[in-house]
Amino acid sequence: MAQKDNEVREGLEGVVAFESTISHIDGTVPELVVRGYDINDIVGNLTFEQMSYLLLFGELPSSNQLTDFDAELKSLRQVPKSVLAFLSSVPKSSEPMSVLRTAVSMLGCIDSESGLNDQNSVLIKLKSLIAKIPTIVAAQARINVGETPLQPDLSLSHSSNYYYMVTGEVADEKTLNAFDAVLVIYAEHEINASTFACRVVMGTESDIYSSVVAGISAIKGPLHGGAIDGSMNMLKEIGSAENAENYVKDALAQKRKLPGFGHRVYRAGDPRAHVLKRMTLDLANSRNDSHWFDIALEAEKQMASLKSIIPNVDYYAAPLLSHIGFPVILMTNVVTSARIAGWSAHILEQYGKNRLIRPRAKYTGKSGLKIHKP
Ligand code: ACO
Repeated sequence: MAQKDNEVREGLEGVVAFESTISHIDGTVPELVVRGYDINDIVGNLTFEQMSYLLLFGELPSSNQLTDFDAELKSLRQVPKSVLAFLSSVPKSSEPMSVLRTAVSMLGCIDSESGLNDQNSVLIKLKSLIAKIPTIVAAQARINVGETPLQPDLSLSHSSNYYYMVTGEVADEKTLNAFDAVLVIYAEHEINASTFACRVVMGTESDIYSSVVAGISAIKGPLHGGAIDGSMNMLKEIGSAENAENYVKDALAQKRKLPGFGHRVYRAGDPRAHVLKRMTLDLANSRNDSHWFDIALEAEKQMASLKSIIPNVDYYAAPLLSHIGFPVILMTNVVTSARIAGWSAHILEQYGKNRLIRPRAKYTGKSGLKIHKP
């Protein structure tokens, strides 16, 4: 529907801000298409490295291109010692997302060419952030539990090394496939709040690090990526499938928003949640532990019958990550380390055909007042 002059769309709902060749969401089907491929086709067929390449370059890599890309990402995994020193010095009570935001900002201060915005420099910095953010997340996870950060293992793939740096163990095939799929699923999602934030900053011709810091600042909020922590905490609070009905009824009666439910665009179902629900059930069955899945399923049924609200991507991603050993406090950081791939594509697209993003406000304040000098 065309926007009428001076019509306010609260929360920019339904406003089309850009043309983009990166991804498309259709909330009615519902579907998510990335660079022409349906998310259901992508998951299980593309690794995170392939997904990142697809996002950055617009097409799938040939086998040689993938080998080169993989080697380049590996060569960029190390983070400067001063960033590791910062991670060690920060109070343990700090929010992990605030720590990540500051560490990325610090990378920008250390990069003597942070302001160089030609296509090649931008691309190198974005690849570097895709490679380094997992190292930062893993280092802070280990420092928080009193362990020394692990060096990246260059013999391992992106996800395998990431898992290893967090847990100190090499993941078995099932765990690795699940973790890699989570990163792939979260990699890109059109013009959501954090992607928009990245594009707004890039639109001012600021630097890449500032743009990504804006994305991190936005995604950490509980209405956006931060909902994954909220989802897991909610499942813990519910405690058992039997408690789900009362919990959901009480929450709705108190007009509370349940984390992991609802979506601005997908009103009939989030295709990512469908995939993650299948994967979580599969993991629960294979580990003979359906505790979290049973609670989640019952609460989903209650939400459907009482308010017809769908689970979003975060709802089943939370128990899945919990199954494979990620603590709640790390979950939004994991989401961020995946979404950097999508942000990178949008930063490149914004920079490639930039126009300053500058919407208007409809003024509803006072008018005609005069200053009276005493
Ligand atoms: N729990 C309970 N009720 C909800 C929820 C929820 N999670 N989400 C929406 N509703 C209700 C609203 O109260 C409203 O009800 P009403 O018509 O009776 O007043 C109705 O559904 C429509 O909701 P809106 O607030 O208009 O939806 P909006 O598009 O503004 O918000 C949002 C979308 C922010 C995602 C919201 O659903 C929410 O807060 N969800 C919980 C947080 C969350 O899971 N966020 C992650 C989103 S996905 C991502 O970013 C990774």
